[in-house]
Amino acid sequence: MKNLIIATGALAMLMSGLAVTEAVAGPESKCKACHTFEKGGKHKTGPNLFGIVGAKAGSTDFGKYSPSLKDGTWVWDEAKLEAWVCDSKSAIKDLTGDAHAKTKMGNQKKCGSEAADVVAFLSTLK
Ligand code: HEC
Repeated sequence: MKNLIIATGALAMLMSGLAVTEAVAGPESKCKACHTFEKGGKHKTGPNLFGIVGAKAGSTDFGKYSPSLKDGTWVWDEAKLEAWVCDSKSAIKDLTGDAHAKTKMGNQKKCGSEAADVVAFLSTLK
């Protein structure tokens, strides 16, 4: 019986630990593999994203943009970013107006309310 109580206690502790981890991992957790968010943060596989809302596409000093982003003329607003984090491969065609445009960033499949959560986070980076 004593063991059962200990085991239940350990399980409860484990579960509350998991809940905390989930709450701390924000909507941007998936992006962190390739992007940093703080001012002056280094570029990784993708460019630093500080101040991205309201910035012109491809305007950081990241040296590895695709031609589509490097020559991009649009300004990132919330709607464009939501389309981007859901399906960058098709968004790049709409953004550039070129049906053959490609991007190096794979689809993140953050769509709908998940996209809105990511973009709400990006809006705080200023
Ligand atoms: C596997 C790596 C990877 C992941 C994960 C990733 N990105 Fe990217 N991202 C890139 C790369 C590479 C580029 C540059 C694409 C290009 O030049 O075509 C990019 C470009 C961008 C841009 C355009 C930046 C600019 O300067 O115009 C935004 C915005 C962006 N990513 C947001 C996100 C967000 C938000 C997430 C998470 C939901 C995310 N990315 C996840 C690799 C990634």
